Amino acid sequence: MKIMAGNSNLPLARAIAGYLEMPLTDASVRRFADEEVFVEIHENVRGEDVFVIQSTSYPTNDNLMELLICIDALRRASAKRITAVVPYFGYARQDRKPGPRTPISAKLVANLITQAGADRVLSVDLHAGQIQGFFDIPTDNLYAAPVMAADIQARNGGQELMVVSPDVGGVVRARALAKRLDNAPLAIVDKRRDKPGQSEVMNIIGDVKGRACIMIDDIIDSGGTLCNAAQALMDAGAASVTAYITHGVLSGGAVARVNGSALKELVITDSIVATEATAQSDKIRLLTIAPLIGEAVRRISDESSVSSLFD
Ligand code: R5P
Repeated sequence: MKIMAGNSNLPLARAIAGYLEMPLTDASVRRFADEEVFVEIHENVRGEDVFVIQSTSYPTNDNLMELLICIDALRRASAKRITAVVPYFGYARQDRKPGPRTPISAKLVANLITQAGADRVLSVDLHAGQIQGFFDIPTDNLYAAPVMAADIQARNGGQELMVVSPDVGGVVRARALAKRLDNAPLAIVDKRRDKPGQSEVMNIIGDVKGRACIMIDDIIDSGGTLCNAAQALMDAGAASVTAYITHGVLSGGAVARVNGSALKELVITDSIVATEATAQSDKIRLLTIAPLIGEAVRRISDESSVSSLFD
């Protein structure tokens, strides 16, 4: 087995390699003067089971291209099996046509990864489970929930917890976390815009009064969904609101929005490398998913069960 990394998240790739007690494959993934990507693998990978670690986070298109070119280089170097390990799968939110004459970009990206020569895909908290079906190659979708649940239990002993989904679409994910937290009760933030042009009203389904609310979602991007929901929960009498989000996309002024929000804390994983602003925020804390991914990689390589990681 070999672990190779693109440039999108080298700290995570190194931590995964560390978990597996092996070095990263000696390769250079660099740019020509005109910004074209060039990949060169400096060691033999013929007949090897190779895992390429690359989140397709910002700059999404560059990182995606690096991933595709790494896979192509490995295929042409006769690797036996290539697994694209994409902890954060960019374009995942474009998983359906929102209107006429629009693309399904998540499917296009799945096609590109497959056509480049990947034999398998490993990702974490895909925005929608059905994205697995966009690939006609085996795709494992890991859940960060066990890592989050362990952290929540370690930090919130004795408190009356309430798991909250920040929108109706996230209820399945929230219910799964609640189950891991000794069947904690569940609340839902229901955003409604009664008429076009009117501002959104946040209705809370569930009684959050006096509760330490744990909000869970897959992505925080602009931070709008989360910060508005946190305010609505505090207005409804919650004791505190902490958010656990797998992928800290945090674009634009998101970190400043989180810093100034009603959130007590935002906990994200290291699926996307933290920016300077994220690292310096007193409200944002990082949880590592390197052991989770490392263990899944080990199991895929050993042909043993990955799903039992979540039993
Ligand atoms: C949406 O379905 C996702 O689960 C997230 O809630 C969304 O992407 C968050 O985006 P933002 O932080 O920009 O509100």
